[in-house]
Amino acid sequence: TGESGLGALADHHVVPLASIADPAHVDIIGEGLTAGGLPVVEVALRGIHGLGAVRRLAERGDLLVGAGTVLSVDQARDALDAGAGFIVTPGLDADVVRFVSDAGVPIVPGVLTPTEVQAAMGMGLSHVKLFPAGNFGGLKLLSAYADVYREVRFMPSGGIRQDNLAEHLAHPAVFAASGSWITATASDGVDAVAAAARAAASVELV
Ligand code: 3PG
Repeated sequence: TGESGLGALADHHVVPLASIADPAHVDIIGEGLTAGGLPVVEVALRGIHGLGAVRRLAERGDLLVGAGTVLSVDQARDALDAGAGFIVTPGLDADVVRFVSDAGVPIVPGVLTPTEVQAAMGMGLSHVKLFPAGNFGGLKLLSAYADVYREVRFMPSGGIRQDNLAEHLAHPAVFAASGSWITATASDGVDAVAAAARAAASVELV
């Protein structure tokens, strides 16, 4: 919704994370996600293939491409120049939040503690990533925050898989879930990515 500031990202409740180890996987991921009806990807800027993958996937024009693991304003600028339509960060960096927001691009920064949730609220953000959720209580942590931070919506990441996706998307404080389990099938080809994408896309946000 426009209110959330998420733009087109709000249409997707599952955000596949792609950390590119093999550049041959980039096109497989693009084909698989679109064929599987989940045309969105967060490309992690980890290693040498990340930025090129953002550019190549964005050039397709048939899926929403964001950049993740953005740690600095310079990386954010590079990602936007490469065509990123949203930015995800593992932690909360005020300079990165300001730069990306000023560019008119949605940003979903990572938080973990109450202090960080409140810092994000102070930056005017209502949608944040909860990372690494699985290492710190996951759904229980979400419930504790939901009681206190009633206006905040979370995208848990870290340890989400197909078999626990539904319980995360059923949580009232959750707007999306992200993780690497879908694109991790890239070494098995386009059909494998498409099947994983289709399975994930079929799980509804409650
Ligand atoms: C991330 O990097 O955003 C998360 O760690 C993804 O975690 P996963 O590999 O457990 O899905």
